[in-house]
Amino acid sequence: MSERAFNFSAGPATLPESVLRQAQQDIWDLFGTGIGILEHSHRGKAFDRITAETEADCRKVGNIPDDYAVTWVQGGATTQCYFVPANFLPADRTADYFQTGKWANDSIKEVPLYGTCHICGSSKETNYDHIPVGDEVKYSANPVYVHFTANNTIMGTEFQAEPTPPKGAFLVCDSSSNMFSKPIDVKKYGLIYAGAQKNLGPSGIVLVIAKKSLIEEPVRELPQMMQYRNHANKEGRYNTPNTFGVYLMGLVFKWILERGGLNAVREMNADKAAVLYDFLDDQDFFLPHAKLDSRSMMNVTFKCPTPELDKLFIEQAAKKGLDGLKGHRSIGGMRASIYNAFPKKGCEALVSFMKAFAQEHAKAVSA
Ligand SMILES: Cc1ncc(COP(=O)(O)O)c(C=O)c1O
Repeated sequence: MSERAFNFSAGPATLPESVLRQAQQDIWDLFGTGIGILEHSHRGKAFDRITAETEADCRKVGNIPDDYAVTWVQGGATTQCYFVPANFLPADRTADYFQTGKWANDSIKEVPLYGTCHICGSSKETNYDHIPVGDEVKYSANPVYVHFTANNTIMGTEFQAEPTPPKGAFLVCDSSSNMFSKPIDVKKYGLIYAGAQKNLGPSGIVLVIAKKSLIEEPVRELPQMMQYRNHANKEGRYNTPNTFGVYLMGLVFKWILERGGLNAVREMNADKAAVLYDFLDDQDFFLPHAKLDSRSMMNVTFKCPTPELDKLFIEQAAKKGLDGLKGHRSIGGMRASIYNAFPKKGCEALVSFMKAFAQEHAKAVSA
């Protein structure tokens, strides 16, 4: 078998080795049933157990109170861009949105279909290089909810703390690219959603954590599949779910618990991110994209002095087993995605490569 690369992909992304090895076995035979996880009915006993354990372990990891539902839906996090206003925003009301990058914009685009959108903070003018805070934040008079993208996967920026919504409004969070990367105080939120393919599992499944009282009744008539309550009330099995996704998220939650929970995971992530940021701060060849106070622990974005060098960097890095470093087309350059399961050794290998690359090309740039 070929050696595995360091996979810096932004998602689908690196998964824990022990999880993948367990999945290899369970694809053939789950719980000694003689049937693999991909072949089990979503209504059968084996999958009842998977569902119950995945929910229970998710609650343990996130310290999620009983008045919150834990469920999952399909359609990717992009589906949540319209699920949220459809379920919560009456036609004559306003919702506030932080405009911090492409994924935030994808959400913002859908709001006018249902009600009014107010941008309560934006870093668009500086190509989303920071998270708006303080004077940059202006809420509308009486928003139903405030939506923010906790980690901006493309830009490499991250809210260092959740915003405080005005009284009467609840917080909605797209946490796709930093879910369970650090402790989270669920009680501060009305609804959290996270596409699984970065920190939680495979693509095609979205974890949803919602305050039960908010999803009892959508604010308008909606198709059954668009109502959060149907998914929550049926244990994520309103229709056939992504069974493998539920199963794999369950294994990842167990992996987090084995590691000591979210405090331990945060320490691990901070340690890994420091390897890259300490190096970036100590040199003047590469240009980091995110402002210091907005840096992401999950996605580290930087550029070479020229686009030609970016291209060369990505090509040569891939040959050395450092894969998936190409930045998103909207900002170019490089992006190192170092989610929970990404090993520190990979960050160190990248820094060694960056040092050598800078040494080789610095002279040519200054000449
Ligand atoms: C923060 C964030 N939100 C939403 C999405 C969209 O997710 P999906 O492709 O699963 O719809 C992504 C994808 O990378 C993301 O990073």
